Amino acid sequence: MEEKLVIRGNRKLAGEISISGAKNSAVGIIPAAILADGICTIKNLPDIDDVRHLKELLQHCGAKVHGADGEMTVNSGTIKSHKVDFELAKKMRASYYFLGAFLGKFKKAEVPFPGGCDIGIRPIDQHIKGFEALGAKIKVEHGIIKAKATELVGASIYLDVVSVGATINIMLAACKARGLTTIENAAKEPYIVDIANLLNAMGANVKGAGTDVIKIKGVEQLHGCEHSIIPDMMEAGTYMIAAAATHGDVLIRNVIPTHLESVSAKLREMGIEVLEYEDAVNIKANGRPKAVNVKTIPYPGFPTDLQQPMSVLLSIADGTGIITESIWEGRFKHVDELKRMGAKIKVEGRVAIIDGINRLSGSPVTATDLRAGAAMVIAGLAADGETTIGNLKHIDRGYEGLVDKLSSLGAEIRRIEE
Ligand code: EPU
Repeated sequence: MEEKLVIRGNRKLAGEISISGAKNSAVGIIPAAILADGICTIKNLPDIDDVRHLKELLQHCGAKVHGADGEMTVNSGTIKSHKVDFELAKKMRASYYFLGAFLGKFKKAEVPFPGGCDIGIRPIDQHIKGFEALGAKIKVEHGIIKAKATELVGASIYLDVVSVGATINIMLAACKARGLTTIENAAKEPYIVDIANLLNAMGANVKGAGTDVIKIKGVEQLHGCEHSIIPDMMEAGTYMIAAAATHGDVLIRNVIPTHLESVSAKLREMGIEVLEYEDAVNIKANGRPKAVNVKTIPYPGFPTDLQQPMSVLLSIADGTGIITESIWEGRFKHVDELKRMGAKIKVEGRVAIIDGINRLSGSPVTATDLRAGAAMVIAGLAADGETTIGNLKHIDRGYEGLVDKLSSLGAEIRRIEE
């Protein structure tokens, strides 16, 4: 039995929706709670599988985790093991944050190589380089990364690539290290700022998050705190693009518009109206958008996580658009699925050349990864006829209440068991 989404397309999305907490913040913040010697209350958590898996991982290590309706309390005082379960770790990328968190707290960690979306090679050499600079010894045995230190001492670390994961992981490990740690060429994503704010609320001394130099002065102890997660810019961007692709009029609430600047700018370049309010954006689209070129760049550039949804909009735009994917070399797997729906796309290495057509036509397709799944949903909403999307496990990892939110905007979408 497999669950599928069935979408009857060619309907304008109209109305209002509210955005949930950011997945990529949540998956760093939950492991970060391990560092506290008290209870952390995390609010505005998205109701997604990645969060459920992290809760299981924490419980498996002995932490007491409670909560419902977007709130979780974590008491890490009862943790008995610094080893992460193999099967659980495989389910998601963010299990690697247990390395930084356990290392910071217990000076030792054993974490299997993480899972997550198959969008490229996804090395973690920069995380390891950071841990080693802080004084940890790292070895890999039977697919498990083992880290150990007698003492962690602050260091100056220059990242060779701008990495969200390495920046967060090093911040976690360095919070309680002796002395000053400097991360240069750090990632600047809003998630980094969110996690730094959580750590500072726990008593850490992290400065510069959101710029490319982060300075962390180690402290002896971290205490419990309360923290509310920022809105999910990728979920918001997904609905912005869906509104545009269906020639809709959608007010997207609970967003931070400055986080979406690059997306808003691109949509405007395509002739779509984007109105920004204090904590909302309104997308109004009439007719076919104009084709544009898009290059994915770390924040504040156009996000790789919205490249696949954007490719759907370009496939029904007027003219030829070019996408250059500079972050993940394997993030065009959805193109074959889009082609089933009639899209005219040619991929050459990291570049996709997209000749816009008038309309996509509904077809059975597969979600090859999380954002590919979101892209197929948008394609189904905009297409003529019926689209069936399989392999929903990816979408469930990252989008809260997708069917309900889209239905409230007038989409004909349902989940079936086949
Ligand atoms: N990289 C290295 N070495 C490292 C780490 C990264 O070479 O040690 C390279 C990667 O191969 C990639 C680039 O650096 O080319 C950026 O990778 P990054 O470490 O920033 O990615 P990540 O932390 O594994 C997070 C998000 C991804 C998002 C990327 C880029 C989480 C759990 N995942 O991944 O989100 O695409 O940053 O912004 O936060 C998604 O939400 O769909 C998703 C895949």
